[in-house]
Parts: sequence; C-alpha cells; structure tokens
Amino acid sequence: MESKITNNKKWKTSIANSTDKQTLVRGYPLEDLIQNLNFTQAIYLILKGELPTKQEEQMLNAIFVAAIDHGIASPSSQVARIVFSGGNSLNTAVGAGILTLGDSHGGAIEQCAKLLQENKDKPAKEIVAEILQQKKVLPGLGHKIYKDEDPRTIQLFSIAKKLRLYGNYCKLTEEIQKEIEKQKGKKLCINIDGAIAAIMSEMQFDWRLGKGLFIIPRTAGLVAHAHEEWCREKPFRRLDEDEYCYDGKDERKLPKKIE
Ligand SMILES: CC(C)(COP(=O)(O)OP(=O)(O)OC[C@H]1O[C@@H](n2cnc3c(N)ncnc32)[C@H](O)[C@@H]1OP(=O)(O)O)[C@@H](O)C(=O)NCCC(=O)NCCS
Repeated sequence: MESKITNNKKWKTSIANSTDKQTLVRGYPLEDLIQNLNFTQAIYLILKGELPTKQEEQMLNAIFVAAIDHGIASPSSQVARIVFSGGNSLNTAVGAGILTLGDSHGGAIEQCAKLLQENKDKPAKEIVAEILQQKKVLPGLGHKIYKDEDPRTIQLFSIAKKLRLYGNYCKLTEEIQKEIEKQKGKKLCINIDGAIAAIMSEMQFDWRLGKGLFIIPRTAGLVAHAHEEWCREKPFRRLDEDEYCYDGKDERKLPKKIE
C-alpha cells in the first residue's frame, strides 16, 4: 500500500531519504555510515547502490588519488584561478573549473568507457579503423605532455592487476593503443582518462558516470587552487605581454561614412 502511494509521486529517488527521524542512504542509516565508512566507500555506495568489496574500495580510492590534481597548467585549475581572480567566490571558481572538463580534459573517460562497454566484443583493429575513418580521436589516448607513457596509468593498471581488477576492458584498451600505433604510425599513451575508463568498466560502473569519477576527486584540487589564489595572489590576473601576440589588422582609419 505504502509503495503504491510512493510510486504515484512525481519525484522519485532510490538514493537517499531524509525525514525528521532518520536519513537513509541506499537504505543504510546515515549514522551507521558516519561511524563505519570512509569517504571512498560512501562514494561507491551512493553511485552504485551497494557497498564495495575491499578490492573495489582500494581501486576506487587509487583512481581518486590519481585524479586529484595535475598542476596549475591544466585548463580546469587555470580557469578556477582566473575566475577567482576576477572577484568571484570560491564556489563560482570551482564550478567554472569543473565546466572546463570536456572531451579533451577529464571528460574523455565518459566517451572511452562508452566505447569500451559498447564494443567489448569487437577486435581492437576494427574499433580503431572505424574511429580513424570518421576522422575522430580515440578517447583515452594521447596527452599534451606524456608522449610514451602516462605514469598515472602505469600505477592504476599495476594496482588493478594486484587487486584482480585488470580484465578484458584493460586488455582491450592496451590492444587499442597498439593498434593505433600500427594504423596511425604514432605512439600515443593510454592517458589517465583511458585507464579510469577501462578500470571503471571492469568494476561495472555505467559509462555515464565517467565524468563524475573525475569531477569527484578533481573538485578537491580545484578547491585548493581557488583557496591558494584567494590567500596569496592579487585580484585581476592578466597575461603578460610576452605571453600573447596580436596578429590582427594594423591601425587603420574608420571611414567617414559608415553604411
Ligand atoms: C590530449 C590531446 C588533446 C593531446 O593532443 P596533442 O598534444 O595534439 O597530441 P600530439 O601532439 O601528441 O599528437 C598529435 C597527432 O596525434 C593525433 N592524436 C592525438 N591523440 C589522438 C587520439 N586519441 N586518437 C587519434 N589520434 C590522435 C592527432 O590528431 C595528431 O595527428 P596529426 O599529426 O595527424 O594531425 C589528444 O591526444 C586527444 O584529443 N586525446 C583524446 C582525448 C583524451 O583522451 N583526453 C584526455 C587527456 S588526459
């Protein structure tokens, strides 16, 4: 009877329920979670609906540590700091940094996990040929500074092997890397997005959570950047003259009569 009433409601959620008596998260009392779970376990629970095994917890934790920050040169941290320096609040700066996470930065996890999950039975050769034919890039491969190897991938794959979470998705990703080298004649590393995409697929995370698995840890990095900007920089960042050039028209006269 009760569930029938609930099912007729316009807004439904299976994530959490809060009343004046109790909050349940995925069915577990929040008080018990506060006492017994670490942050990674709680994140796994809220995303997947169930508690992780020890291996899954350790793997997800390693993913979060790997993605926590990558220096001031990354688009997301630069933008967070610039937006803060324009006189905005910490939350505006962090939100702006998160908005930079697109297909080329952090967001490739989603595309790569989708590609892997939807093509898990296809040979790497075909997957690569199809993408290259469409003149697209393979998500999860290549990097601005890491040309041969992304050190974060080496660590994540080594932990995945230790935890027995290195399976067919990770193998397929490595085969795709070898194939692109054959078909394009260029070595591209498996970047952190590719590694996370492969491992999250091994852990049966829906590919639609790909960007989320990057946003969750990187938010901590962005908070640190916005806070540092706040504490030790003057407002109004602008480029120095040696950092940009103007390559437009030389000075010219505005016509007397403008049609
Ligand atoms: C990250 C990225 C933007 C770096 O680009 P970059 O610095 O221009 O890369 P490089 O200079 O090493 O490589 C340039 C060449 O390799 C190609 N290339 C790079 N990454 C590629 C990929 N993932 N798939 C296919 N071709 C790729 C480029 O198209 C270019 O080819 P060209 O010489 O025929 O024009 C790029 O590799 C990319 O878009 N990767 C996919 C998205 C992704 O995984 N992003 C997450 C990064 S952590």
